[in-house]
Amino acid sequence: MSCAALHLPSAWPLLFMTLLFSMDVSCSALTAQDYADALDKSILFYEAQRSGEVPSNQRLKWRADSGLSDGALDHVDLVGGYYDAGDNVKFGLPMAFTTTLLAWSVIEFGVSMQSQIQNARAAVRWSTDYLLKAATATPGSLYVQVGDPNKDHQCWERPEDMDTPRNVYKVSAQNPGSDVAAETAAALAAASIIFQESDPPYSSKLLLTAMIMFDFADRYRGAYSDSLGSAVCPFYCSYSGFNDELLWGASWIYKASQNSSYSSYIQSNGHTLGAEDDSNSFSWDDKRAGTKILLSQGFLQKNIQEFQLYKSHSDNYICSLIPGSPSVQAQYTPGGLLYKAGESNLQYVTSSTFLLLAYAKYLSSNGGAASCGGSTITAEMLIAQAKKQVDYILGDNPAKMSYMVGFGQRYPLHVHHRGASVPSIHAHPAHIGCSESFQYLQSGSPDPNVLVGAILGGPDNNDNFADDRNNYRQSEPATYINAPFVGAVAFFSANSTGS
Ligand SMILES: *[C@@H]1O[C@H](CO)[C@@H](O)[C@H](O)[C@H]1NC(C)=O
Repeated sequence: MSCAALHLPSAWPLLFMTLLFSMDVSCSALTAQDYADALDKSILFYEAQRSGEVPSNQRLKWRADSGLSDGALDHVDLVGGYYDAGDNVKFGLPMAFTTTLLAWSVIEFGVSMQSQIQNARAAVRWSTDYLLKAATATPGSLYVQVGDPNKDHQCWERPEDMDTPRNVYKVSAQNPGSDVAAETAAALAAASIIFQESDPPYSSKLLLTAMIMFDFADRYRGAYSDSLGSAVCPFYCSYSGFNDELLWGASWIYKASQNSSYSSYIQSNGHTLGAEDDSNSFSWDDKRAGTKILLSQGFLQKNIQEFQLYKSHSDNYICSLIPGSPSVQAQYTPGGLLYKAGESNLQYVTSSTFLLLAYAKYLSSNGGAASCGGSTITAEMLIAQAKKQVDYILGDNPAKMSYMVGFGQRYPLHVHHRGASVPSIHAHPAHIGCSESFQYLQSGSPDPNVLVGAILGGPDNNDNFADDRNNYRQSEPATYINAPFVGAVAFFSANSTGS
């Protein structure tokens, strides 16, 4: 990264170079190549999270097959998909959200991904292949999880050794889960857009299944946490309810299909589904801010008048985020990082950064700006704020630490991740059982397997970070932290002034 990769002509006078370094620009400007490197790594991370049969073109070599009987307890095939974070459970709600955001990254910034576009599509497809199985294995239901999370968390086993119960959980008409079903619909619809040209039959299948899932979500209304209880709570409890996912799902299907049934649905239900609620945290739980920005695009780029109100809603969201705006609500650390919560804070940073960049793109194509009370916030200001967040994550911060593993000179070495911290099955083929496994969580040694590209939970509200594997609030990665970052670094790899 920049601190090491600042290229200066050797003929420059020493005095000028001294001046340059004393101004501390040496660590503040990442180059386009740095962002391209971060993009490559941010996608590579998904290979570490793969469940199922590892394919021959797998680039990340320390992982191997796992979860090959997933679904067997219910006589269905649920092999594949992603482990959400540092454990070995396949949680459907965050997996679907991850997929929606990865696809959205490709939709908005795929044009900047160059050679990484194939890897990005493959990362989406690894998930959508699984979500299709989960949605179609048993008609009238959706499988939303594999793995008993309480039992899983009582062990520290690498996925290849996993011998904890692979219970399967599903939602149905009797036990509804509108949140997870509508998020699954959103994921399938968003992914259908990125395969429209490269694989039309697959794209059609994704969109059709999205419509079926959305109908199921809307018809049988309920929160999956009420249906599944301690299997999903407190892990991925649906705290925000399911209204936000219904509107988000309909919005994605409308974007993918242009079918007017879904724009009518949005118009007649937007109000009751909470479209106007203020919410400045966009996450696997709460989709409101993302829906506003997504629908604003219909107005800004396609001139759909019915969606004009989402431009004002999006302005309000953006105003709540930008320091210096009269209605700012977001908190920042002294080092300038958006700070929302002590646990896995960087998920909020990457998701809101993505929304800043997507909104900047929509505004630019329309020549518009966001209006915050009396002030005008331009697309350039949104991009500058997004860049600060991205650069902070990549090492331009008071701790001089990159929060992306394997990027830059200094990054965390003790990641809260079973696969990374236990020796690879290739290095240590003998089974490491549940009882022997916790020594690797407790060990002070660096991870034997570098979890390249993973963005971790990140520092606290004072920019402090403890590189400690037990400190899961700061040192655990998650698929949904990386997903929106993929789009953000793609953007900066093509739009930064660095050489
Ligand atoms: C539009 O979507 C509705 C609801 O899913 C469906 O019944 C209808 O067939 C779709 N129309 C077209 C033209 O695909």
